[in-house]
Amino acid sequence: MSYYVRRMRSEDIAQVAEIDREAFFTQWPPPNFQSELRNRLAHYIVVCDDEKIVELPEVKTPSGRGLTGLVSRLKRLFNHQRLSGDELPLPTGHYIVGFVGCWVMADEAHVTTIAVREAYRRQGLGELLLIPVIDLARELKTRTVTLEVRASNTGAQQLYDKYGFTQVGVRQGYYIDNREDGLVMSTDDITSATFQEHLEQLKQAHSKRWGMTLDRITQ
Ligand SMILES: CC(C)(COP(=O)(O)OP(=O)(O)OC[C@H]1O[C@@H](n2cnc3c(N)ncnc32)[C@H](O)[C@@H]1OP(=O)(O)O)[C@@H](O)C(=O)NCCC(=O)NCCS
Repeated sequence: MSYYVRRMRSEDIAQVAEIDREAFFTQWPPPNFQSELRNRLAHYIVVCDDEKIVELPEVKTPSGRGLTGLVSRLKRLFNHQRLSGDELPLPTGHYIVGFVGCWVMADEAHVTTIAVREAYRRQGLGELLLIPVIDLARELKTRTVTLEVRASNTGAQQLYDKYGFTQVGVRQGYYIDNREDGLVMSTDDITSATFQEHLEQLKQAHSKRWGMTLDRITQ
């Protein structure tokens, strides 16, 4: 298996929404990913399976026209002329297996969502998504990374705990589907030498265990 992380794009929305529905089925409908991608405070990263190709749906603009639009249509028409079949080929892309979103405001980055497809869990991909968020937060000059997690979601809490998040508060009845409490978790100062040393150790351990290289995220 080979994976890479990159910034989320419009053509990823259908796949990301599918992952969102699987992971957060009680919280549907999902966030408006189209407007999230236009939001300057928001940053979304996806992890892709490098070895699996899928067809991508045509992306619609607010006017209802294909976003890939003229360029895409011309490309498809051009390809069509070179193919003998009647079907116009759809654009393709890598299979997205997880995503993470965060909002960066002042000196804080807030992880708004993180999910990995069920079939791909417990293979280091949650970490592969969380690490670039922390790196990005530091690049954007924030000092802490925070998030909310369901009180019952002990698996996710263990992931955050591993990366130095501790519980700093409770939002009573925060989740409207079942009125479950949300635990507020936060890192210490991510720019501190102690935090960075710990992060570096985790990156090396992750790389050694899963054989994945943590390059800078691509656009
Ligand atoms: C939380 C989630 C993103 C973790 O993704 P993942 O790819 O399975 O996580 P990883 O394989 O990278 O696990 C990293 C660490 O997280 C912890 N962890 C993850 N899932 C766990 C589980 N089910 N039980 C216990 N610990 C778990 C472990 O500490 C693990 O480290 P280890 O392998 O050394 O034990 C994934 O379970 C998911 O998508 N869940 C549904 C959506 C969700 O709950 N998101 C969090 C919202 S706050």
